[in-house]
Amino acid sequence: MEVTASVGGGGGMTPDDIIAKHCSACHGTGLLGAPKIGDTAAWKERADHQGGLDGILAKAITGINAMPPKGTCMTCTDEELKGAIEKMSGLK
Ligand code: HEC
Repeated sequence: MEVTASVGGGGGMTPDDIIAKHCSACHGTGLLGAPKIGDTAAWKERADHQGGLDGILAKAITGINAMPPKGTCMTCTDEELKGAIEKMSGLK
């Protein structure tokens, strides 16, 4: 299922592109304690403690412990990061 590119991004990166390039290295295997792609329960528990998807999005932007700021995608917009998080977590 394609998600339309968000305004302003310009790069035309889909959530899948971003995840493949930047997030799956850690989130694919759960490296360093990262919540795994598709493990909705693990993501939901984090979201529940941090005010929902926007709460964990904020942490993803600033970085948290071994999680680097913006998950290393420094050119990603907040919307693009959010799309990637929605896709990895299965949360909305
Ligand atoms: C270098 C490894 C690494 C990369 C690359 C990485 N992450 Fe993470 N991520 C982590 C780790 C480790 C945690 C758990 C941090 C903790 O709670 O101690 C985490 C946690 C998160 C969380 C939950 C934050 C919270 O508040 O609990 C989100 C959201 C997230 N990552 C999004 C992303 C996105 C989006 C990308 C790609 C753009 C990405 N990450 C790339 C390692 C990584």
